[in-house]
Amino acid sequence: MRVAIFGTGYVGLVTGTCLAEVGHDVVCIDVDQAKIDGLNAGVIPIYEPGLETMVRANHAAGRLSFTTDAAAGVGRGDVIFIAVGTPPDEDGSADLRYVLQVARTIGERLHRPAIIVDKSTVPVGTADRVRAEIATALDARGADIAFDVVSNPEFLKEGAAVEDCMRPDRIVIGSDSPGAIGTLRRLYAPFNRNHDRIVTMDVRSAELTKYAANAMLATKISFMNEIANIAERVGADVEMVRKGIGSDPRIGWHFIYPGAGYGGSCFPKDVQALARTSAQLGHEPMLLSAVESVNERQKGHLFELVQRHFDKGEDEGIRGRTFAVWGLAFKPNTDDMREASSRKLLAQLWQAGAKVRAYDPEATDEARRIFGERDDLVLCDSEQAALEGADALVVVTEWKQFRSPDFRQLKAALGAGVVFDGRNVYDPREVEDAGLAYYGIGRGR
Ligand code: UGA
Repeated sequence: MRVAIFGTGYVGLVTGTCLAEVGHDVVCIDVDQAKIDGLNAGVIPIYEPGLETMVRANHAAGRLSFTTDAAAGVGRGDVIFIAVGTPPDEDGSADLRYVLQVARTIGERLHRPAIIVDKSTVPVGTADRVRAEIATALDARGADIAFDVVSNPEFLKEGAAVEDCMRPDRIVIGSDSPGAIGTLRRLYAPFNRNHDRIVTMDVRSAELTKYAANAMLATKISFMNEIANIAERVGADVEMVRKGIGSDPRIGWHFIYPGAGYGGSCFPKDVQALARTSAQLGHEPMLLSAVESVNERQKGHLFELVQRHFDKGEDEGIRGRTFAVWGLAFKPNTDDMREASSRKLLAQLWQAGAKVRAYDPEATDEARRIFGERDDLVLCDSEQAALEGADALVVVTEWKQFRSPDFRQLKAALGAGVVFDGRNVYDPREVEDAGLAYYGIGRGR
C-alpha cells in the first residue's frame, strides 16, 4: 500500500520505517529541510535502538523516502498519517496548530480519495476538527473528493520504539467507516503475529483510549512514589513493598517503580491535557491533578535528600560542593531530556551554589543545547570522569552501565562519600559496606 506520513518526529519516523519494513511504500514529509536532507543521507535525528539500520535498509530498497514536498506526499498516499507534534499550550491543553495545518495542506492538495489517520496524541474531538479543516479546504477549491478521518493512536515507548511498533500488543483503530477500517486492517495485517491485535471502535473512544493508557501508567508511578514517601517515614523499604504487591496479577509488575518522577514528552503532557479537557467539560479531574502534583513534588525529592544529608550540621552545606550526576535523559536508551527529572535537580543544585559534573551515555549533546556553557556544569565523557573531584554521586537515570559500579572505587573518589540513588538501582547494604552513605527513594531504614 502507498502511505504518506506528515511529521518525522519519533512517532512519524518510527511508524513510517516499520510500515516500509513490512513492504509498504512510504513517503515521510517534514517542513524541516535539514532534517529531510539528513534522513535522505541516512542521518537519523534521534537516538533509537535499531532505527538507523532499518531506515537505511528501507531507504536503499526504495520503500522509504523523505521529502519536504507536501503535494507530492499527498499525491502518493492512499493512507495519509498525521504524526506531527502537539506541544502543550500555556494552559496545559494540547496545541493543535500543526495538526490542523497539515489537515489544511491535505485538503488543499488531495486529488483522489484517501484515508487520513490521526496518529498524533490529540484531544477527544480532534478528528472532527481535522475532518472540518480538510472539508473547508476542499470546498475552497470546489473539489469533491471522498475522504475518511480515522483515529489510530500510537503506543510506542522511546528506547523500545521499533520493537513496540513491530510487535504491538494492540492496534487501536477508531472509525465509523467500514471501508476505512478494512483498509487499515490490511495495512496493519503484517503486525498481527499469532492473533489479531486490532481493536476497532468509534473515533472518540480511540482518542480517549490513548490518554487513558498514559494517564493510568502515570497514576501507577505517582501512586508508588506516594507509597515510597510513606515508606521513608515509617521505616519501610518500598522495594520490598513493590515486590510484595507486583505478584498480584491485578496490580502487575510494570510501572510500579518509584523514582525521581516521570518525565518525557508524553506522560506530563498527556496527564495535563486530559485534566484540562475534563475541567473544560465541567468535571474536576481530582485524581489526575493529584497524579501531576505528586510527580512535580517527586522531581524535587532527590534534592531534598541532598539537603537532608548535607544540611545536617556535620557538613558545611551544599554551596561550593561538586555533585557527580549519572544520567540526564528522562529514561535510559534515549537522548531525550524533555521534562527529565535531571533538569529540576540540576536547577536546584545550581540554585544552592553547587557545581555539577554530569555524564549520560547519549544525552550530552542535548544537555549542551539546553544548558549552554556554564561554569557550574561540566559535561563528562564517562562515569569515571564525572566522579573526579566530586563530593557525592546522584544517579538520576537507570542506564544499565550504572548498575554495578565498583563501590570501593566510588568511596575513594567521592569526597563526602555519599550516593543518592534516584532509581533504587543499588543494594543499600552493598553501598554502605563500602563505607559510603546511601540514600534511595522510599528506603527508610
Ligand atoms: C510512554 C508510554 O509508556 C507509551 O506506551 C506511550 O506510547 C508513550 O508514552 C507516548 O504517549 O508516546 P515514554 O514516554 O517513551 O512512553 O516512556 P516510559 O517508558 O513510559 O517512561 C516514562 C517515564 O516514567 C520515565 O521518566 C520513567 O523513568 C518513568 N517511570 C516509568 C517510572 O518512574 N517508574 C516506572 O515504573 C516506569
